[in-house]
Amino acid sequence: MVLREKFVVCCVMKNKVFTLEIEKSAQGGDGFAHLPDGRACFVQGALPSEKVIAKITESKRDYTKAETLEVLVPHSLRVAPRCPYYGQCGGCSLQHADFSLQKSMAEESIRDTFRRFAREELPENFVIHSGNSWEYRNRIRVQKNRENVWGFRAKKSHQILPVAPTCPILVPKLREFLKSPEALAIQAQELQVFENGNGEISYYYNGMSNQEFSEKSESVVEIAGKKIHSDASVFFQSNLGLLPILVKRVLEEAGEGSLLVDLFSGVGFFATILEDSFEKIIAVERDSGCLRHAMKNLKNSAEFITTPAEDWLQENMVSKNATLIVDPPRTGLPQSAVEVLLKSSLLRLIYVSCNPVTLARDLKLFKSGGFSLDSLEGFAFYPQTPHLEMLAVLSRK
Ligand SMILES: C[S@@+](CC[C@H](N)C(=O)[O-])C[C@H]1O[C@@H](n2cnc3c(N)ncnc32)[C@H](O)[C@@H]1O
Repeated sequence: MVLREKFVVCCVMKNKVFTLEIEKSAQGGDGFAHLPDGRACFVQGALPSEKVIAKITESKRDYTKAETLEVLVPHSLRVAPRCPYYGQCGGCSLQHADFSLQKSMAEESIRDTFRRFAREELPENFVIHSGNSWEYRNRIRVQKNRENVWGFRAKKSHQILPVAPTCPILVPKLREFLKSPEALAIQAQELQVFENGNGEISYYYNGMSNQEFSEKSESVVEIAGKKIHSDASVFFQSNLGLLPILVKRVLEEAGEGSLLVDLFSGVGFFATILEDSFEKIIAVERDSGCLRHAMKNLKNSAEFITTPAEDWLQENMVSKNATLIVDPPRTGLPQSAVEVLLKSSLLRLIYVSCNPVTLARDLKLFKSGGFSLDSLEGFAFYPQTPHLEMLAVLSRK
């Protein structure tokens, strides 16, 4: 088919309606089906094994996207979404699936992702740890709408839905705060709010005075016997209910040693948790807002370096006696960082990831440098959404 014909076919397909059999779930929580012309179709709102009527929303040469119009044969674990804004709000796209099904869908799509990107089978004992499936989220970024209500952006739109004060995945203290006179009086378009697991709220918005910042933004979280200082403007983990399980597994995997390097360290979270087990600690983080907290969180002997991790790695060889923990953003490790690590004498790596796709991509690179996967597990940090936290341990001889 010449290019122009392909373009015409793609345009004609948009808005067409098909009856589809959903074969499995895909990365991102969509149902996966094939169109009569053989192309893959990612169907939003459809569950594995369902038969649905779906409308094409995007048509490309190799794949298409569709939205579910009607479910003809539902999955036995399909449930009624709890939130009235489901389908409109940009978050929580999996509320139509029971949480047990969400977990098995996540496992299926991770299995596919690791096969496809890393030629790696999931370990036989693969597990997804989970906690509360509602009222779990303790950190959020909200926007204010014209009616002075804090909310979240609608899907594919700039509209702000007044959902935050009733959002069913937020911990109750956050919901209460978002409708309080204090929150409603804040003159800002965007607000970052954090609840520290102990009912205390801190928040941050652009343009806050220094005095307000020191009174309202700082927080302390108690975890694994440590008090971790932070503020609402910098990264902090957002499921404090499940975090202790991740921390426990990281403590078990890290063991003891002479040197711990914590890359993408935020306020020095993992470094602080692990510092009693290591003689020396180096924490590297790009966001300078973390420095002040890291200095409080870590012992005096620890080094906290504010620079991109990939730049630090270019100048500092990680030796074979080091234990390295990395916790990069969704984009995964910069390729230059992986290249340097492969040239170093590093033998073991603990990788905390919030994106299975980039984790699998990076695993493929590490495997090409002689590493293999010792363990892999998931953490359902974001129920009702397709996102998952993962912990991988890699080593080489
Ligand atoms: C997923 S968070 C993890 C933070 C920390 N490990 C924790 O548990 O709180 C990723 C962190 O990496 C930082 N970051 C992003 N890109 C970076 C880079 N190239 N070099 C160093 N830090 C980076 C972000 O500012 C953020 O604090």
